[in-house]
Amino acid sequence: MSAKTLVHRVEFRGAAKAAFDGPNARDPEVLLSGPAGTGKSFAALTKLHMMALINPGMRGLIVRKTATSLTSTALVTFREQVAQEAIATGIVTWFGGSAQEAASYRYSNGSIIAVGGMDKATRIMSSEYDVAYVQEAIELTENDWEAITTRLRNGRISFQQIIADTNPDVPTHWLKQRGNAGRTTFLESRHEDNPMMYNDDGTPTERGVNYLAKLDALTGPRLQRLRYGAWVAAEGQIFEGYDAAVHLIDPFDIPREWPRYWSIDFGYTNPFVCSRYAEDPDGRLYLYAEIYQTKTLVEDHASILKGILKREPRPHAIICDHDAEDRATLTRHLGISTRAARKGVSDGLQAVGVTVQAGRGRQAAVVHPPRRRCASRPGADRSQETDLHGRGNPRLHLGRRRQRGPGQARRSRL
Ligand SMILES: Nc1ncnc2c1ncn2[C@@H]1O[C@H](COP(=O)(O)OP(=O)(O)OP(=O)(O)O)[C@@H](O)[C@H]1O
Ligand SMILES: [Mg+2]
Repeated sequence: MSAKTLVHRVEFRGAAKAAFDGPNARDPEVLLSGPAGTGKSFAALTKLHMMALINPGMRGLIVRKTATSLTSTALVTFREQVAQEAIATGIVTWFGGSAQEAASYRYSNGSIIAVGGMDKATRIMSSEYDVAYVQEAIELTENDWEAITTRLRNGRISFQQIIADTNPDVPTHWLKQRGNAGRTTFLESRHEDNPMMYNDDGTPTERGVNYLAKLDALTGPRLQRLRYGAWVAAEGQIFEGYDAAVHLIDPFDIPREWPRYWSIDFGYTNPFVCSRYAEDPDGRLYLYAEIYQTKTLVEDHASILKGILKREPRPHAIICDHDAEDRATLTRHLGISTRAARKGVSDGLQAVGVTVQAGRGRQAAVVHPPRRRCASRPGADRSQETDLHGRGNPRLHLGRRRQRGPGQARRSRL
């Protein structure tokens, strides 16, 4: 009885097609960038699969920021929409991984496609590959990206490539900057590329109409990014260079010897804000806690802050808003002198902006989720979600830091 042939039929258009046979299809770094549901992941995974099928012994990689996020995204698409026939016929089998080896799809021709997350990078990064597919590349840091490119040296096929897909993010995101600099080839993916969304004659399919209606209902930067594929800044974002992938990190135990700074914005009807920063030996600032509270008297805040002083190092400086009476009350109840902030708005914005931008390379004003202290007094407003782009006031702090005596090396490292 002759072997049954299973046929996998796909049609590619636009950016997806260009990733296969366009002039840049073999570039070292290729990114499919675009709105949601245009077929980026499907195309990239299909390319990887086909290359493994036709190049015996090829080594591929499927990677995302976290391994867990892969299991419900790329691996489902791969298993159910890209390699289902090959898996059904046993040409491709799944290897769950071992202490030494990353989990992988194994091909009967000796090719393998390893799978993993940058959160547990050791096993995937201790190996060499011909092609690496990065899903939702904006989640990665540039460090992650470049670490992956260093693995592309298996040399089994005529070109080595990192192929990635992503939805857009802020225009200052490192990935966008890399594209602008020509180091990564951007292929702009659009809904018309996806046969599931648009017919050959350019009219939307029924599924396309329904899905686009969902995207049309989005608002703000989400509409621009996920409906139109535009790299736009977040709503109300003041600090252009702010990037959660860089500036929002997991909490850690801050060494007691790191200098602390408090910045205080007085308020009663508007929230009183006390942001507490720590500075590491490289001059990076960490916002590690914040009080954000309305309807509370300064002397009550002072007693809360006194409690904090019992368990945290005394701050090197308390930089305050200019309300003389509130400052005097705070100083009297806290027993520590305070400084008036330099409040040139644009100076402050530039100071923070410069620091945040600087953060993209080495030195960063790294922010982690502020630990919130809620008012214990009845009637006091309970906490609201802090948004770093306005509330919580790095400006107050950084403006002040810059005033440190000229010639002190630390100033420029800020
Ligand atoms: N060329 C194609 N032919 C048939 N179906 C396709 C094609 N491209 C994509 N699809 C289908 O369209 C759906 C969306 O595709 P995919 O997940 O690749 O989009 P995406 O651009 O990666 O979306 P997101 O930005 O949300 O990650 C999937 O169900 C996929 O199977
Ligand atoms: Mg995708």
